[in-house]
Amino acid sequence: MANQAATVTLETERLLVTLPGPEAAPRMVTYFETNRAHLSPWEPPFPKGMFSNGFWERRLTQNRHEYRVGRSMRLVFFDRHEPDGAIVGLANFTQFVRGAFMACTLGYSLDEDAQGQGLMTEALQASLRHLFGELGMHRVMANHMPINERSGALLKRLGFQVEGYARDYIYINGAWRDHILTALVHDEAPLPDYLTGELVTKRPS
Ligand SMILES: CC(C)(COP(=O)(O)OP(=O)(O)OC[C@H]1O[C@@H](n2cnc3c(N)ncnc32)[C@H](O)[C@@H]1OP(=O)(O)O)[C@@H](O)C(=O)NCCC(=O)NCCS
Repeated sequence: MANQAATVTLETERLLVTLPGPEAAPRMVTYFETNRAHLSPWEPPFPKGMFSNGFWERRLTQNRHEYRVGRSMRLVFFDRHEPDGAIVGLANFTQFVRGAFMACTLGYSLDEDAQGQGLMTEALQASLRHLFGELGMHRVMANHMPINERSGALLKRLGFQVEGYARDYIYINGAWRDHILTALVHDEAPLPDYLTGELVTKRPS
């Protein structure tokens, strides 16, 4: 899985799901400025500098490096017909662990106005196929606050299963928040339809 191409672009019916370079920094700033109120109830506090181009130029360059060496896959989605337009959403697959675990953690967000159209489902289906099929992952973990019903419904739609409940799990919006822990395991049967065919989990050698 390590030392692959520096970037990836997945085409779906309505989206381009990719790892943009530093030239997309201004659009990242706009995404977080526009969606600050929408995201802050659900996400950890934004790091210092989050609203500057320099921060995102460094981060986007780093993201491509991390993908190339097999450490993360931090994807950004654009409207397929407007690839130079505003960011539609993000999906961060991070904390890659290989060997006998082959697992990672998923976090995501959509632009507030892009909700309710199935766009995150579409982007994550393609991303998960790539993750399991090309990168050989075995398990993806995703966690949400119990009151985040949209996030819970999304994960259920994608076939994630609840594995547990963690008290005071992540510091969000001024307090430690309980989370429901879920995971999608590739070898498990029955697989959701979007994951069937041509996907092989790599075994540790
Ligand atoms: C969590 C979040 C990504 C979910 O977004 P979403 O729009 O509900 O998810 P999807 O894009 O998959 O769309 C599903 C919705 O579109 C509808 N839809 C329309 N066409 C659809 C299609 N082709 N496929 C699936 N759903 C479709 C579904 O019915 C559903 O709407 P409903 O909730 O009214 O039933 C979004 O609410 C968000 O960004 N929240 C803030 C950040 C956040 O919570 N991040 C996660 C922290 S754990």
